[in-house]
Amino acid sequence: MTIDTDQDLINLQIIGKIVATTLKAMMNHAEPGMTTGELDLIGKQLLDKYEANSAPKVTYGFPAYTCISVNEEAAHGIPGERILQPGDIVNIDVSAEKNGYFADTGGTFVMPPSNPLKDRLIHSTQLALTKACEYASAGKKLNGIGKAIQSVAKQKGFKIIKNLCGHGVGRGLHEEPREIAGYFIPQDKRTLKEGMVIAVEPFLSTKSQFVSEMEDGWTLTGQPDNMSAQFEHTMVITKNKPILLTRC
Ligand code: CO
Ligand code: CO
Repeated sequence: MTIDTDQDLINLQIIGKIVATTLKAMMNHAEPGMTTGELDLIGKQLLDKYEANSAPKVTYGFPAYTCISVNEEAAHGIPGERILQPGDIVNIDVSAEKNGYFADTGGTFVMPPSNPLKDRLIHSTQLALTKACEYASAGKKLNGIGKAIQSVAKQKGFKIIKNLCGHGVGRGLHEEPREIAGYFIPQDKRTLKEGMVIAVEPFLSTKSQFVSEMEDGWTLTGQPDNMSAQFEHTMVITKNKPILLTRC
């Protein structure tokens, strides 16, 4: 969506804060021995408390409240019986709706103990999101977001998962502009406009450039020994820095 009124911004800030708070609480509560289903329930309880609805559930009928993807899983992992183990690299993606407005956020962490590769993958993905946010302003080319992400990945020695993209958001979970790639697509001529609401979500990985859907119909996985990290913010494009709606 593109923001038309002050009320649009206020409502987006409300749902942005809710998903950010929920993500942070889930990350803080994760511990070895807990199942991903138990962790999802913590997210559900917070969304309930804030009277927000899980966006993947209301939009696509996703069979849980948040997406939790562990190790070889890159995205859209279904919380369930999987037990979190020491050393697991865990991605949580929280998106939700309140008053007809949607926001989307995500983050990745390691269940201790970590190792230098996992730490570097996570920090590099955070940096890629930061660089993309620094770039994004009204009048600039949309494909510069992918360029910024790609340049960090290259510099740090990681791959980009090419079939996972950012997207417009706001009145729905996935809106125009669709397919905001995490790499540079020269023929993409779209421009960032003032008031545009987008979710930027770099996925850096150790090996895989593509992920495919598992038999459960949701989980997106790379090769068996791949590791990936994702960080995501929903933001409003302005003439200067974007307004980050999902920063805690
Ligand atoms: Co997301
Ligand atoms: Co998203």
